[in-house]
Amino acid sequence: MSRPRILVTGGTGYIGSHACVCLIEAGFEPVIVDNLSNSSRIVTERVARITGFQPVLHETDLRDSEAIARLVREIRPAATLHFAGLKAVGESVSDPLRYYDNNVCGTVSLLQALDAGGCRVLVFSSSATVYGDPDTVPIPETAPVRPTNPYGQTKVIVEKLLLDLCAADPRWHVSILRYFNPVGAHESGLIGEAPRGTPNNLVPYIAQVAAGKRAHLSVFGDDWPTADGSGVRDYLHVMDLAEGHVAALRHALANPGPLTLNLGTGQGVSVKEMIRAYEAACGSQIPFRISPRRPGDIATCYADASRAREVLGWQPRRSLAAMCKDSWHWQSNNPDGYQ
Ligand code: NAD
Ligand code: UD1
Repeated sequence: MSRPRILVTGGTGYIGSHACVCLIEAGFEPVIVDNLSNSSRIVTERVARITGFQPVLHETDLRDSEAIARLVREIRPAATLHFAGLKAVGESVSDPLRYYDNNVCGTVSLLQALDAGGCRVLVFSSSATVYGDPDTVPIPETAPVRPTNPYGQTKVIVEKLLLDLCAADPRWHVSILRYFNPVGAHESGLIGEAPRGTPNNLVPYIAQVAAGKRAHLSVFGDDWPTADGSGVRDYLHVMDLAEGHVAALRHALANPGPLTLNLGTGQGVSVKEMIRAYEAACGSQIPFRISPRRPGDIATCYADASRAREVLGWQPRRSLAAMCKDSWHWQSNNPDGYQ
């Protein structure tokens, strides 16, 4: 029996690669399109080592409209998981044009190709960043959307575009997934997050401190209005997130119109709690220093995760200990990422 083909944009990236594993295990055939601006082609071999199936990679930029249209005509995907995008908040503030061009124009080009090809089922990677500094936690999907940086603006613009598209044409089936903080790696240690340069995010930074690549972690503020004074976030195992995509894909295939969901655990974890959990996983101390707050940071952010459970029947299964164990397994097996 042939597997339904799923176009996976950004499929060699961190979340996309884990989603490819889950797609294959669920009986789909991922076909990747990625310009490799933040990933490596080795990923497809690693996915093959895990699953026994090597996805085809088309090394193409989404903004190359002709190439994308040709690809869609050729592979006729049953649906698209759209991960491709730039995601560094600081970079988006200093170079907004690059972010709007890549994230918004890239998506427009993709949607035009899919529309022309009659392939109108899409799952989009949005982010909890769309909520900015929330009025209350846990954050429901109905909370106001007010991003505080260009990266977040690009997510809001694409979300709005997708809603407009669904309103204009009932043949579109769209899931908009607002992820909280994906961390960890596949339990094999073969795929994981491979940031280029200095990691921006907490867990990859801790991983590099644990590996001895960085001297200490800077904890950005211990005077936040939280139980221990450090920032609180909703960390989610990347494999749970990837499984959430398969659930969202199945839902989108069966249901026309738009659906917007938070994907998170609904549990807040502080920076200091994360340090302790990582120390337990790697068996050594994580040296840290208290530093000033990071500009634009917020105290607390976690999801009201009930809607995804109700609508998709999906909920995260993996613990904080598993997130740290799998992150450390990946980091210690691949000290230089995919290089
Ligand atoms: P990633 O950088 O690892 O993966 C993104 C992939 O897209 C990369 O492989 C990159 O080469 C590719 N890409 C970027 N622009 C492209 C273009 N114009 N054409 C073709 N390929 C292109 O990032 P990730 O962490 O896997 O994130 C995936 C998606 O999820 C992104 O849209 C991101 O904004 C969103 N997201 C990520 C997080 C997170 O913490 N990682 C949180 C919320 C939302
Ligand atoms: C980041 C992004 C956000 C994205 C989210 C999910 C920024 C400014 N925001 O936010 O857009 O949606 O990831 O991927 O990058 N911390 C330290 N030391 C560090 C790094 C982080 O103390 O070296 C703290 C932060 O202050 C925060 C927590 O760790 O309290 C988590 O930080 P991070 O991993 O960057 O995630 P977010 O702040 O949620």
